[in-house]
Amino acid sequence: MIVIVDFGSQTSHLISRRIKEFGASSKLVSPEDALPEILKNKDNIDGIVLSGGPSSVYLKNAPTISPDIFNLNIPIFGICYGLQLTAKLLGGKVISGKKEYGPAQLEIPNSKSQIAKNIPKKLTVWMSHGDEVIKLPEGFKVLGSSEHVPFAFVENKNKKIFGLQFHPEVEHTDYGTKIIKNFLNICAVNFKKEIIDEKELIKDIREKVGKYSVIGAVSGGVDSTVASVLTAKAIGKNFHPVYVDNGLMRKGTEEHLNKIFKHIGIKLTVLKVEKEMIRRLNSITDPEKKRKIIGNFYIELFEKEMKNLIKKGIKIKFLLQGTIYSDVIESQENKHSDLIKSHHNVGGLPKKMKLKLLEPLRNYYKDEVKEIGRKLKLPENFVNMQPFPGPGFAVRIRGEVTKKRLENEKKADEIVLEELRKANLISKVFLSFPVLTNSFSTAVKGDGRVFGEVVALRIIESKDIMTTTWAKLPYDILQKISSRIVNEVPDISRVVYDITTKPPATMEWE
Ligand code: XMP
Repeated sequence: MIVIVDFGSQTSHLISRRIKEFGASSKLVSPEDALPEILKNKDNIDGIVLSGGPSSVYLKNAPTISPDIFNLNIPIFGICYGLQLTAKLLGGKVISGKKEYGPAQLEIPNSKSQIAKNIPKKLTVWMSHGDEVIKLPEGFKVLGSSEHVPFAFVENKNKKIFGLQFHPEVEHTDYGTKIIKNFLNICAVNFKKEIIDEKELIKDIREKVGKYSVIGAVSGGVDSTVASVLTAKAIGKNFHPVYVDNGLMRKGTEEHLNKIFKHIGIKLTVLKVEKEMIRRLNSITDPEKKRKIIGNFYIELFEKEMKNLIKKGIKIKFLLQGTIYSDVIESQENKHSDLIKSHHNVGGLPKKMKLKLLEPLRNYYKDEVKEIGRKLKLPENFVNMQPFPGPGFAVRIRGEVTKKRLENEKKADEIVLEELRKANLISKVFLSFPVLTNSFSTAVKGDGRVFGEVVALRIIESKDIMTTTWAKLPYDILQKISSRIVNEVPDISRVVYDITTKPPATMEWE
């Protein structure tokens, strides 16, 4: 097993995901618990990864580990903060350097090292750091450098300690997974790939739920759809799915859901609350406040619906949630991570409702969930939906959410989707959406001056959500989308294209 010491990086769980992909196992531990955990299981631990993190090693309260970790004769792989901490603890020097976020060119001039086996001499890697190592500890040598970072890829061959300033775990680093595989080979781990058995998942649900009933919130997204199908197959009519139509979802979501539940053969309850939702969001502009209001309203509606079912004599004991592994890790409290935003779809509900949680997909990543969906023979358009945030368009409308702005946002969203579909580009992009930016610009429409709103288009490519590039769409498609939005959507004067990578920018604007 590989131990991952988590210093709070947004991508720590991706390291465990990559290790799992190769069929090896791993465990995330906090820096405080690292040494005792490792010593407890020393014979079973093949390697240690020191993750990235938002802190700086020279700060007073920066998270750290005991230097004894470097003397256990276990291979060590430090990523970003993990490399900087290794350098500091072993006698090197780290400073606040040139900040770099996003792609960089790495050169590995002539390495015969096992960690760089089958890696080309020039590759694109992704950086996300403010500090850098400027002096290596004794026994280390440089394998690769980028324009701004001389010590971007280093090793101490004798002690099997390796360090990367870039992130090999993210999808946009070329050969990143190959470097991780090289490390696993150095660690001599056992590779044993897990085969997902959907019948086992259904059996587990049936055993856990027994004669009781399950209520579940559905959104039309792939996670809640796959969780619903598994549950419906396990307990049939004892499953009660509910869709809250708060007006913040994409056009056509209700029709899509009706098709899904017709396919499964279960009745769907739809709660229509758009008017009240907009009333509650009146004059709210802070995105975190919007999230809280939407989340709390959800809880309220669910409690009411549950009481209705109980009155009818239905014994609801479980709440189904389409939580997947990345949700679990992202919402885990980690005192070393920065809070980026609170996702409302995990937590909150069950605590108040005194229900037991049923989370059949808790151990799986998004692509594994899609694989389960395909094994369940769900149509491809149910499995391959674009992800959509729980708070919906409320976080794609900057400033206040009014009925009119919501309508404009939905209209513009439909135009983007329609044009991508027409151009056969829809399956090539990960996510596409317009943002009402709450900035205004001048336009002249039919000889009259208009001071309308600026729409920003965010159309991105990604597999694992943690890193993204903007889609290099043909200019004529962008032109078509832009013309249609300014012509067909009222109050819009200008369309701009967002060409920012993640990191540093998140996918959503709020
Ligand atoms: P970010 O913006 O964090 O987006 O790069 C990553 C993924 O998460 C979705 N997202 C959310 N989902 N509640 C959700 O349920 C939220 O508040 C939220 N914010 C972002 C986003 O759509 C993307 O798929």
